[in-house]
Amino acid sequence: MNFPQKHSAAGTTIFTVMSALAAEHNAINLSQGFPDFPVDDRLGTLLHVATNVGFNQYAPMPGLPILRNEIAENFRRRYGLEIDPETEITITPGATYAIYAAFTAILHPGDEAIILEPAYDSYLPNIEMNGARAITVPLSAPDFSVDWDRVKAAITGKTKAIIVNTPHNPTGAVWGKSDWGQLADLIRGKDIFVLSDEVYEQLSYDGLKHYSVLGHPELREKAFALFSFGKVYHNTGWKIGYCIAPPALTGVFRRIHQFLAFSVNTPAQYALAQYLKLEDVPPVNIMLQEKRDRFLELMKQTPFTFHKPASGSYFQVAGYEQISDMPDKEFARWLTKEYGVATIPVSAFYTSGKDDRLIRFCFAKKEETIAQAVERMSSLMVSP
Ligand SMILES: Cc1ncc(COP(=O)(O)O)c(C=O)c1O
Repeated sequence: MNFPQKHSAAGTTIFTVMSALAAEHNAINLSQGFPDFPVDDRLGTLLHVATNVGFNQYAPMPGLPILRNEIAENFRRRYGLEIDPETEITITPGATYAIYAAFTAILHPGDEAIILEPAYDSYLPNIEMNGARAITVPLSAPDFSVDWDRVKAAITGKTKAIIVNTPHNPTGAVWGKSDWGQLADLIRGKDIFVLSDEVYEQLSYDGLKHYSVLGHPELREKAFALFSFGKVYHNTGWKIGYCIAPPALTGVFRRIHQFLAFSVNTPAQYALAQYLKLEDVPPVNIMLQEKRDRFLELMKQTPFTFHKPASGSYFQVAGYEQISDMPDKEFARWLTKEYGVATIPVSAFYTSGKDDRLIRFCFAKKEETIAQAVERMSSLMVSP
């Protein structure tokens, strides 16, 4: 059989490869971005309540009204933003799905969409699956800021979208207000939409504020903002996210969504809506900042180098130039096999495989997981 090649990405993602290698070598898995600590008991109880009180049939296509209302209330409280739950919020089965649906809503075959790399690995195949071309622009190591001149040079008459991500996977970089201003200047008057992947929205550290595309009135008019509950409430396996976009864009988004998933897990939506009402849920960034700090403190026993602490997300990028000059993929495999700690090589987030000799650690793990992993790496030596 001759199957069509819908995209050019590798057959198996690096996350699957590294997790399989971790299992094979009984390694501690600091590779994939998911927490290994439990969800709040109350969230589990609410899920149970939801099924008991009868939230077991299809939810409305845009999502349960109680959940959309609570999201709008939450954004009013946290960001001072007014969002219409009826016409601007759509609940989705995770953010990855929402990214795909948003691209599908706006891309025609032959269009171009810009990705800033290193980038989350679904962006490129999602663009190509729609017959469009992904144009990649590298971020500038070591701080992974945006080189706006390069973005400008990548824009052509065919550019239909740009996807951005703050706080950023894999580098932990966080956009400032001025980044949004630069983007607005670049695409003003052009028929270009913004996909803003903000799944780590509540994970910024050291007092840094998260600036959402929704807080930029001009960009908000042409943006799909994509969120995930999984990264906020430690329940990535629930796969519930949402898209916030102005009414016209929400309309085209729902035209796709209604024939793709149509609706999303009802009891989980109910549980999340009730959970959002609670006033004593501690901000997640406090706990994760403590984990980042503990990780960095313990890692002082190893020869890894850190350009700076992650400003946001679950991830800390580390240099290993004092240990080895292997390419990063080889180094990550070696570390898994020889020291029993799995990480992700940062080159895997570049289409070109650009190798800055960096690996990514996920620090959203239990205290003992982090301590054990560092213990295993503490015998790493500075190479002569
Ligand atoms: C940048 C980024 N976007 C989206 C996602 C996926 O979100 P979801 O699990 O809700 O599909 C991830 C998960 O790792 C991510 O890192």
